[in-house]
Amino acid sequence: MLYSDKVMDHFNNPRNVGVIDDADGVGEVGNPVCGDVMKITIKVENDVITDLKFQTLGCGAAIATSSIVTEMAKGMTIQDAVAVTKKQVAEELGGLPPAKMHCSVLATDGLKVAVDDYLKKNGREPIAGKILSEDPNFDPHGEEEEAPAAVTTAAAADACHLHE
Ligand code: FES
Repeated sequence: MLYSDKVMDHFNNPRNVGVIDDADGVGEVGNPVCGDVMKITIKVENDVITDLKFQTLGCGAAIATSSIVTEMAKGMTIQDAVAVTKKQVAEELGGLPPAKMHCSVLATDGLKVAVDDYLKKNGREPIAGKILSEDPNFDPHGEEEEAPAAVTTAAAADACHLHE
């Protein structure tokens, strides 16, 4: 079986699909090669993420990882949310095929961009890039060096440092 039961469950019954109209932060990311895109909207109270919704136009792994990330991040502080890695996401899903690991970057990056958008809207310093740069083990490309990392859209173009 290529995908775990949990991946198939989140693909067939994705959680938290949609858009929060009065979102406190918005993250939009896309993969320039495969063309898959993800938008995530978050509500934040006292730096805790209280609600998330996503829209992903992409492969099954991208949809499943987006779905599980919304479940993982609900109730997290924004500091913990930006530190979620694609490996943690894959583990939460019971694993992903190696060739699909890069798909989980969409979800984790979308969350980071949304958190930074929230901070910037409130006149605060973005933290996603800061946390990543302080983690010497962070590798946004993981094992799939040939795989493209997600890039942000114009809505959050200044967050591209996540992939440098
Ligand atoms: Fe594009 Fe999975 S193939 S995110």
